[in-house]
Amino acid sequence: MPSATLELDYANALAAAVGQAHGVSPAEIRRAQPAVKAAIVQIEKQRRQGEHRYRDLPADRELLRTVKAAARRFGPRMNNLVVLGIGGSALGMIALQTALNPPLHNLLPAGRRRGPRLFVMDNVDPVQFADLLDVLGPALPKTLFNVISKSGETAETAAQFLIVRDLLARRLGKKGLARNLVVTTDPESGTLRDLADAEGWFTLPVPPGVGGRFSVLSAVGLFPAAVCGINIDRLMAGAGEMSRRVASRSVRNNPAAMLALLLHAFYTRGKRMHVLFPYGYQLKDLADWYRQLWAESLGKRVDRRGQPVVVGPTPIKALGTTDQHSQVQLYREGPNDKVFILVSVEKFARDVRIPRAKTTPPALRYLEGASLGKLMAAERRATELALVASRRPCLHLRFPRITPHTVGQFIMLWEATTTLMGHLLDINPYDQPAVQLGKDYTYALMGKPGYEKQARALRRRCKPSRYLV
Ligand code: PA5
Repeated sequence: MPSATLELDYANALAAAVGQAHGVSPAEIRRAQPAVKAAIVQIEKQRRQGEHRYRDLPADRELLRTVKAAARRFGPRMNNLVVLGIGGSALGMIALQTALNPPLHNLLPAGRRRGPRLFVMDNVDPVQFADLLDVLGPALPKTLFNVISKSGETAETAAQFLIVRDLLARRLGKKGLARNLVVTTDPESGTLRDLADAEGWFTLPVPPGVGGRFSVLSAVGLFPAAVCGINIDRLMAGAGEMSRRVASRSVRNNPAAMLALLLHAFYTRGKRMHVLFPYGYQLKDLADWYRQLWAESLGKRVDRRGQPVVVGPTPIKALGTTDQHSQVQLYREGPNDKVFILVSVEKFARDVRIPRAKTTPPALRYLEGASLGKLMAAERRATELALVASRRPCLHLRFPRITPHTVGQFIMLWEATTTLMGHLLDINPYDQPAVQLGKDYTYALMGKPGYEKQARALRRRCKPSRYLV
C-alpha cells in the first residue's frame, strides 16, 4: 500500500550525482541548515502574531462550512459555472479542477459529471469572450457566474463582470442576478464589495492577510471546486497535514525546508531557472500556478529594508512527456543554469494497456502488454537519468496518487517553500509593486479619472514608431 504522503528525493541534486561544479554537497547542506532553521523559527513566531495567514486556512472549519453551504445552495440547479478572475484569483482554482476532475470534464454528459461544466475566463480576449457568450446564450438561466477579485478593481475582471451583469439584468432581471451570481471579494472593502452589499448579492470572502496567489485554499479556489464536486474536506486535510510538516525545524523531516535550502543554494551558485516538470497531464496547471507563485513572490528589486537587491529565480513549467520532444535538447545541452523538479505519479487513477496483436511490427513489440502508466514512469525516470548524465541537477517530487489529499499537500508545500525562500532571499514575498505601473498605464489609456496626467504623457510616447520593418 503506497504511502499517502508526498515525498521529495534530492539524491540527483547532490554533487555525488552531478559533480562538484553542479551539485550540492552534504557539507553545503549542513552549512545552510542554521539559516533555514532560523527562518522557520521566525516564520512560526510571526504566525503566532497573525502573519502568513494562508497557513491557517486548513484549520478554518467555518470557511469549509460556509463554502459547502454556498455550493449546495447555488450549484445543483446549474449546468454551467463561469469563473471571472485573473492571476491569483484564477490560477489556483484552474489547477484544482485540472488535477481533480476528469480531463474531459466538460465533454461528459451531465449524469457522468460531478458538477456543472466549467469555464474560466482569465483573459479579456474579445473573440474568446464573445464565443462564450454565444455558447451560454440559451443556457443563461442555468449558468452560475462566480466573479472573483480581492481588490474588486482589476480591469480585466471588472470589464467581464460589467458585461455579465448587464446580460443577467437584461435577460433574467434582479432575480437572476441574485440566483446566478456569486461574488468572491474582500470581506470589508473595495468596489465589488460595496456594489455587492448595495445590491444584496451573495458574497464569499477572500480572507484578510491572504494575497491572491496564496488564496487557492480560501473561497477563491474552494467554492468552484465544491460546486464541481471536488472533495474539499480532503483537500484541506492534506494541506493541514503539510502545514504541520513544514513547521518542523528539522530540515531533513521538512520538505519545504529542504526544497528552499536546495533551490536557494542553486540560485546563489548561478542556477537561476527552476523548471517544474510534472509527468501527468492532471498536474500541468499546478505547474502554471507554481510559475505565478514563484515569479510574483520572489522577483524583487529591493530587500526587506528597501535596499536594492534585484533577485528572483525564473520559474519554468514543462510537461512530461510532451516537452521531452520540445525542451530537453536545450535542457541537456544548453547552458547548465537550471534545476529540474520532476514530479511523478506512482499510481494513476486509470490506466490503459497496450494490446498484443500478430500484426504488431517487431520494432514495436516491446510495448505490447505494457500500460501507458508504465511508459510514463519509464520516460520520467529515463529523462531524469539523461539529465543527470549531462550533469544537470534534478529533484524528484513523488505523488503516490493524485487525490484531493495529495494535491492539498502539494499546494501547501509550495506556498510554504515560497515563504521560506523569501526569507532566505531577504525579500517580501507577499507584495507585487512592479505589477502596478502597467495597471496605472492601462487606467490612463482607458480614461480612468485621476490618471489624466499619465494619459497625456503616454499619448506623447505612443507616437507611431519610426522603426517599423
Ligand atoms: O497574486 C496576486 O495578488 C495577483 O496575481 C492578483 O491575484 C491578481 O492581480 C488579481 O487581483 P484581484 O483578485 O484583486 O482581482
